[in-house]
Amino acid sequence: MAHQNEIRFLLNGKDTTVVDPKATTTLLDYLRIDQRLTGTKEGCAEGDCGACTVLVGRLRDGKLKYETVNACIRFLASLNGCHIVTIEHLSGPDGRLHPVQEAMIEHHGSQCGFCTPGFVMSLYALWMETPAPSAQEVETALQGNLCRCTGYEPIVQAALAINQYGSPSNDYLNRERSDVTARLAALQSTSRIETGPADDRAILPRDVSDLAEVLAEHPEATLVAGSTDVGLWVTKFMRPISPVVFINHLEELKDITLDDDALTIGAGVTYSESEAAIREAFPHLREYWDRIAGWQVRNMGTIGGNVANGSPIGDTPPVLISLGAEVTLQKAGGARTLPLEAFFIDYGKQDREAGDFVASICIPRAKPGQIDAAYKISKRRDEDISSVAVGISVVLEKGTIAEARIAFGGMAATPKRAASAEAALVGQSWSAEAFDAAAKALAQDFTPLSDWRASAEYRLLVAGNLLRRFHLEHDTAKDAPVRLAIA
Ligand SMILES: Cc1cc2nc3c(=O)[nH]c(=O)nc-3n(C[C@H](O)[C@H](O)[C@H](O)COP(=O)(O)OP(=O)(O)OC[C@H]3O[C@@H](n4cnc5c(N)ncnc54)[C@H](O)[C@@H]3O)c2cc1C
Ligand code: FES
Ligand code: FES
Repeated sequence: MAHQNEIRFLLNGKDTTVVDPKATTTLLDYLRIDQRLTGTKEGCAEGDCGACTVLVGRLRDGKLKYETVNACIRFLASLNGCHIVTIEHLSGPDGRLHPVQEAMIEHHGSQCGFCTPGFVMSLYALWMETPAPSAQEVETALQGNLCRCTGYEPIVQAALAINQYGSPSNDYLNRERSDVTARLAALQSTSRIETGPADDRAILPRDVSDLAEVLAEHPEATLVAGSTDVGLWVTKFMRPISPVVFINHLEELKDITLDDDALTIGAGVTYSESEAAIREAFPHLREYWDRIAGWQVRNMGTIGGNVANGSPIGDTPPVLISLGAEVTLQKAGGARTLPLEAFFIDYGKQDREAGDFVASICIPRAKPGQIDAAYKISKRRDEDISSVAVGISVVLEKGTIAEARIAFGGMAATPKRAASAEAALVGQSWSAEAFDAAAKALAQDFTPLSDWRASAEYRLLVAGNLLRRFHLEHDTAKDAPVRLAIA
């Protein structure tokens, strides 16, 4: 069967076709080198600094949604049927500056200017969704943008003032929304797309059953969802990854179902897309979710990718394991479901058979008496990888701890439950002593590594203190003594 060998998208106002793009050409290189759209900058090439921020508009259930992404780690070939909006598209045909740009100038939000296009694009996305944001919303939107000379205060002041310079309802992207929606609908592909040379090949399956077929044909292929891990394999490690199977366009992997029993999240759901359901079903994860990466990476990165990547310092596995989540793996022959903790076998080794892909993750709703918490310790508050992360879930019955599930990241070669600490809690009454014993038992569960994020001693100490913190934060006795251990 003939496959489409080109990708089609809208670039600013222009219908664009690229024939046979390589799998690993980044959107940033395409914009700057092929299109000479040099307003989008390259700072770090690893998703950290935000200088390369652009908007990508995509149809979801027929509705057009724009999100910020890091062009440096987004692959061009994954963008079939999308609208790519760069900084060049912001000023009007008469050259008039955009309200976001006017606000940045008036509030002295730019010095050397290198970071400025990225900040403007992030603020543009925020302003379209939330025209009068709070300072907290501005900070969240700017988590993924770094500036080394202006300082953030003038930029935040500019962000809070944008509404004085124009209204989103008059903005180009809103005025043209129905036209762009129709143009993107015409660009969607109903067949498999295969592009690029043999050593840099991209495959975009038609749907999930086609994905299973593709993986049966190419079990060695690299699956790419949001590319926030894989992007760095290419830009930083020059790793060959062909053939690449892109899956972030597959709607069937984007289902979110919340019922009385469980929250089920498709593997292709991003952090941003899952945020509302996570907040509703598991309110204790609200702050934790905002601590995962920055806004652009949360718009791209998927929970399925975080799980499949199997990193011992991925942020979702510890909390998902503590909540008793299960993962469903699918391939051409069928599907199987296993407890998430069983998926992580050893460092870099997950329970994935040839042709398997992660299809979904199912998290049971809390039982009566269940108390949950999630903590992340990192060197920097925003957009930083964990030194230690933990998910804690205990079930209390008449003051006694009937069940305990505690899972840590950053303490072992895989995300792992703390069996001895759990055993120290079960059957005990809810008390500082019980949690102190559990904290001490962690030494039997883990022999953490020292690396540049944290020493082994620090990791063990902080892990124990997180258990003590959990007790203190959820203790009803107001005069409970503070007993954090110190080094
Ligand atoms: C600047 C920056 C900050 C970050 N901060 C954090 C952080 O705070 N916390 C954190 O945990 N992570 C962080 N990350 C890492 C990354 O964002 C997450 O691991 C993310 O969830 C990966 O998802 P993805 O869709 O981008 O995966 P991809 O990069 O597309 O893929 C990652 C791996 O999963 C595999 N894969 C993807 N989807 C599937 C599937 N459905 N089935 C089977 N295999 C699959 C891929 O083959 C690859 O091995 C950060 C990354 C960057 C660049
Ligand atoms: S260049 Fe730094 S995030 Fe892309
Ligand atoms: S203005 Fe120079 S890096 Fe931000």
